[in-house]
Amino acid sequence: MKKIGVLTSGGDAPGMNAAVRAVTRAALSKGMEVVGIQRGYVGLLNREFVDMNARTVSGIIQRGGTFLYTARCPEFRNMDGVMKGKAVCDEIGLEGLVVIGGDGSFRGAGDLSSLGIPCIGVPGTIDNDIQCTEYTIGYDTAMNTAVEMIDKLRDTTQSHDRCSVVEVMGRRAGYIAVNVAIATGAEAAITLERPYDLNAIAAKMTKTKNEKGGKHHFIIVVAEGVGQTENIAREIQEMTGIESRATVLGHVQRGGAPTVRDRVVATEMGYHAVELLAEGIGNRIVGMKDGKVYDIDLQEGLAMKKPFIDHMYDILVDTAY
Ligand code: ADP
Ligand code: F6P
Repeated sequence: MKKIGVLTSGGDAPGMNAAVRAVTRAALSKGMEVVGIQRGYVGLLNREFVDMNARTVSGIIQRGGTFLYTARCPEFRNMDGVMKGKAVCDEIGLEGLVVIGGDGSFRGAGDLSSLGIPCIGVPGTIDNDIQCTEYTIGYDTAMNTAVEMIDKLRDTTQSHDRCSVVEVMGRRAGYIAVNVAIATGAEAAITLERPYDLNAIAAKMTKTKNEKGGKHHFIIVVAEGVGQTENIAREIQEMTGIESRATVLGHVQRGGAPTVRDRVVATEMGYHAVELLAEGIGNRIVGMKDGKVYDIDLQEGLAMKKPFIDHMYDILVDTAY
């Protein structure tokens, strides 16, 4: 391949810049030309291009967000849009494409691959909810940000003998919630993957509070997909008599400088994506399996089912009191 493209698509994630840098530098070292496509598939259809050279990606490895910008592109969900995308690739001589994003973005990459433009998906989303990979770029940074925020919340929660019910991101997944709950010493994580019982949580809190030298402040972490955070705080207050406040951490979790883990994994995955394209291989997703970067057929990868971190959930339950 002589010329490849790179884009970021869907919700941004810290470490996407590191992945774009790795893709660019790896491709340049293999003698390929690289085109940066702005705003995901939207920019492909609208021809929003940036010529990438080694210096274009200087000084971005430590920056959050994505300097290529990102977007969601409803038009690319149907084959008419994908065919337009293929025509644009042909027009500018793109022979391959690296798509950094979530599973929706990968579906688009699969469709484009089926039209003859080999695409490689690189998992970039803070939710860690891509089936075929143990790890997605941005997950570690987002969890660290959430932990930093909750540590701050704990100060005021403790001063007032209150309960803080904190919503963390994760539209369809509770991976952030469980890990963050463990890392902040929370009483409970409420996620979609495991049934929860507010009465039981409230009873445990009351028991802990009434013990000699017992605890007087509490943190409950709720995954965004569960929603109802305000209601949960109100119900906990009613059941326990402990004054409760709801806090939604929101998009702050998507920003900030990527952690070492995110920079390194993004670099490894971006590099691997280019190695595949250099061999003329497309329609693959790069992921992590048993702690090592690997790749898998795109459709097969999307069809996989990712086990929940039940073991971690159980550890939380057994150590939170
Ligand atoms: P997020 O979860 O942040 O929305 P995704 O990677 O799932 O991130 O991004 C969704 C985007 O992927 C859509 O807005 C659209 O641009 C693109 N996409 C392309 N093809 C599809 C498809 N078949 N289904 C869903 N999304 C698609
Ligand atoms: O998929 C990542 C994510 O941050 C989810 O956790 C969240 O539900 C969603 O994106 C928010 O999307 P938006 O940026 O469109 O509000």
